[in-house]
Amino acid sequence: MLDDYIGYTGAADVACKDLSDVPHNATWDTGDERELKMHRIHSYPAKFPAFITSKALEYARRKNVNVEKIADIFCGCGTVAFEAQREKLAFWGCDLNPVATLIARAKSHTYNTAWLHRYNTEIEASFKTVSRAVGLSRSASARLQYWFPDAQMRDLARLKNAILRTIPSESHYRDFFLCAFSNILKSTSRWLTKSIKPQLDPEKIPAKVLPAFQNQVKFMIRAFEECPPQSNAKTTISTSNFLSSSNNSIELVDMIITSPPYVTSYEYADLHQLSSLWLGFTEDYRDLRNGSIGSTQHDFNFNREVKRLNKSGTEIVFRLLSEDSRAAKSVAKYYLDMQQVALRCASVVRPKGLGVFVIGNTCYKGVPINNAGHLAEALLDAGFAKVSIAKRRITNKILTPYRTPAGRFTRSNSSANTEIYSEEFILIAER
Ligand SMILES: C[S@@+](CC[C@H](N)C(=O)[O-])C[C@H]1O[C@@H](n2cnc3c(N)ncnc32)[C@H](O)[C@@H]1O
Repeated sequence: MLDDYIGYTGAADVACKDLSDVPHNATWDTGDERELKMHRIHSYPAKFPAFITSKALEYARRKNVNVEKIADIFCGCGTVAFEAQREKLAFWGCDLNPVATLIARAKSHTYNTAWLHRYNTEIEASFKTVSRAVGLSRSASARLQYWFPDAQMRDLARLKNAILRTIPSESHYRDFFLCAFSNILKSTSRWLTKSIKPQLDPEKIPAKVLPAFQNQVKFMIRAFEECPPQSNAKTTISTSNFLSSSNNSIELVDMIITSPPYVTSYEYADLHQLSSLWLGFTEDYRDLRNGSIGSTQHDFNFNREVKRLNKSGTEIVFRLLSEDSRAAKSVAKYYLDMQQVALRCASVVRPKGLGVFVIGNTCYKGVPINNAGHLAEALLDAGFAKVSIAKRRITNKILTPYRTPAGRFTRSNSSANTEIYSEEFILIAER
């Protein structure tokens, strides 16, 4: 396992390399056990498989790196946070998206099952009598009315009010039930099922609110019972931009395990708009794009900033510029942000500690977008001593290697569909 990597110790050695000679390392392809239900309590775009955490920890053990505290700097729905707790390790994580951190917190708390059942019964009773006022700004309500029929709007408002009335604001049980609420929003709306782009399905019959919620809560209780947290290891989950000054001085960690956002592939703020509007995280979900790495929405002075790109970034951005200048600017902004991320990671990982990054490459208008090569160069420039690189296969994308214009995975290679990559890279950076 330790041999199936190519190692680089100098930024100049990896700069502008296409990485075609990086070996496939089958260790990273699949897990050794079935994924726990807790990892399926809420859908999340670009969630990575839970076994990545155990493989990364196994790698650290083989390298004799003592790991007591790990971080996921783009913690998403808390996959690494939950696995860290199973391994009895302290955890620090952040994500810009409040919906992501709600799910991550809901997965990381300890609950008493009897209390979960009791609250659930009380919420159901309260649902019948509570106010149906939506309690949101006019613009948020108008936006939600686009997605939900009247009956669902009314029942979701009652359900949310019932949860807030039943569970005290300071109780962590609120996270559990609001997470359940959040995960039924797509099925109870006209949102095109499984679409990774906001798209209305005029044919869809939205699910009824209360039965959908009861099924979701039942599943979440089973998930919690399958694997209740067994340690008191400290878990901190922050809703923040990893690059913000508030994260300047976080405690050193032994290891980072993370998957960075991809450029121009998901607008997380748009995909979570139903939850962020219903839960009052914002009045206009587009505000949540601010600071999101990989977003196409940015205020960025290309001519002034482009000089700060590393060699790999410069080569890719200038090849793309002649094909599509808007995409080139988004990629340039993404790469500059990722260079900042690499610098910040170097200050967060303790000497001799590790950073494990799962990252994929793409191709845009015929130009290879080598995100892995760019990140490897940035990590070495930032002060990591060595970066070892391997490839892993992504099983579901081998079976369904195309994506429809609506964002669904498919086997069909029709010209309307785009090919997606069935492999990604594991970068292991040694501090
Ligand atoms: C590929 S996803 C991570 C998924 C995660 N591994 C999981 O299993 O759920 C990348 C995440 O980065 C977050 N993100 C984007 N820009 C960020 C920033 N500046 N600071 C913190 N998080 C950010 C996105 O909201 C998204 O959740």
